[in-house]
This record gives sequence, C-alpha cells and structure tokens, in this order.
Amino acid sequence: MRIEIVADEKALALRAADILCEAIRRNPHAVIGLPTGDTPKAAYAEFTRLVNNGAIGVGAVRAFAVDEFLGAGSGVSGTNAAFFAAHLDVGFGALRIPDSAADAADSHVARFSEETRAAGSFDLCVLGIGANGHIAFNEPGSARDSRTRVVELTDASRRAHATAFGSLAAVPARGVTLGVGDILKSRAILVMAQGAPKAAIVARAIEGAASPDVPASWLQTHANVTWLLDEAAASQLSIEARRAQPPPAV
Ligand code: PGA
Repeated sequence: MRIEIVADEKALALRAADILCEAIRRNPHAVIGLPTGDTPKAAYAEFTRLVNNGAIGVGAVRAFAVDEFLGAGSGVSGTNAAFFAAHLDVGFGALRIPDSAADAADSHVARFSEETRAAGSFDLCVLGIGANGHIAFNEPGSARDSRTRVVELTDASRRAHATAFGSLAAVPARGVTLGVGDILKSRAILVMAQGAPKAAIVARAIEGAASPDVPASWLQTHANVTWLLDEAAASQLSIEARRAQPPPAV
C-alpha cells in the first residue's frame, strides 16, 4: 500500500489527474473504473483540461462508472450519469454507466455485470471513500468476495445525496455497484479522500482490521493500492503509516 499525502484539494486534484494520465499513457486502451462524489470533481476538472489541450488522448479508453442509483428515472439530476455528463465529458472510447431508470429486477443489472467481466481486470480503479467506509456502493457488511450486484443504500449514503436529488425522498433506495471482489481484481487502485470529516474512517480503513464493517479496509489485501489524501484526511493516521509514504516524485 502506498500512502501519498498532499497539502490540499488542489494538490490532490493535480496528483489524481496525473495518476489517471499515467495509466492511460501506459495503456491507451486502458479499462478504468471511475467514481462520482465531491472528492473527484476537481481532479476530473484538471483531467478534462489535460484532455482538451491535447496532453492526453482518451479515444481508446474504456471507462466504467463504479456504481449508479436504480429506479431514479433517466435525465434526473443526482444520478451518476448526470454527474459524469457535468464533470467528465471527455470523449472516452466508451463510458458505461448502469441505467438509473432500470429497477433492481431489470436484466440491465446482469448486463452491466457481464460487461465489466468481459472487459477483464481494470487497469486502474479509482475510488472515493464514504464516511461509513463504503467504496462504490459497497456499504458496511459487504464481503471481500462480493460481486457486481444490487444493493440497498444506507440512510447515511442517501442523506449524502439528498441535495443532488433535490430532497431525501427523491434519493433512490437502491443502487448497483461493482463488488469488492471485482474492485480487487483491478491491477491498480487509487483511493482519494480529502477533508477532516474523512480522517477517522481513513485511519480505520488503513490501520484497522480488514473486515466487512469497513468495506474500504478490504483494500489492505490488494498489492497495488495508492491512498491519495490531503493533510486533513490523513490527520488521524499513525506516525508509522505516515512514514510509509513514498519519497516525493522529482
Ligand atoms: P464524496 O463521496 O466524495 O462526496 O465524499 C465519497 C463516497 O461516498 O464514495
């Protein structure tokens, strides 16, 4: 596990965009998993700038949203499809997002699962971490070998999206997510966290026991994970964990 601690949101965005570009330079046909949320917004803005000025080409990249709400209707604000349209409209070769209009019983969910499987191991899976330790929509209780599936969202996760949907009542109760097991098949994983409200869960995920109580703690069992944190999100890590940082890039 690598832990990279940067000063602030701006530095985090630059470094995350850099890691995305590195993965695509290494393999222009890369398969990449991408999260939504407040955390990646600045990174996606920087990445969009780099694509638009020709610094990186993404025409052969196949991207997958790591999760989506179900039963939301299409064209609804707050869905992950709406997020990607607003924050990461860069012309990927493909951007697969489950259909938020589908309901849990729809065969669409199985299709998304088949597509991710057919794409093989992701070259890079980018993640945020929820305040309850979720990764994608793998809420507490998610097993290490969980697969792409329909999940019930916790109240905490639904509340976090109430503003984007216009009200708590409008936030769907269910979503579809890549499983922890699917995420762990990725060749490399990048987890981003920023701000003091994430400090306690980041410390538990990195230094606590690996368990379904904190799904992000399963990342301890993967050989190539980078935690990219700002100082505030890293503030509850032990001195030993902070020492595990790689030397700054030159
Ligand atoms: P956030 O969400 O970036 O909006 O904090 C992270 C997550 O829930 O995965």
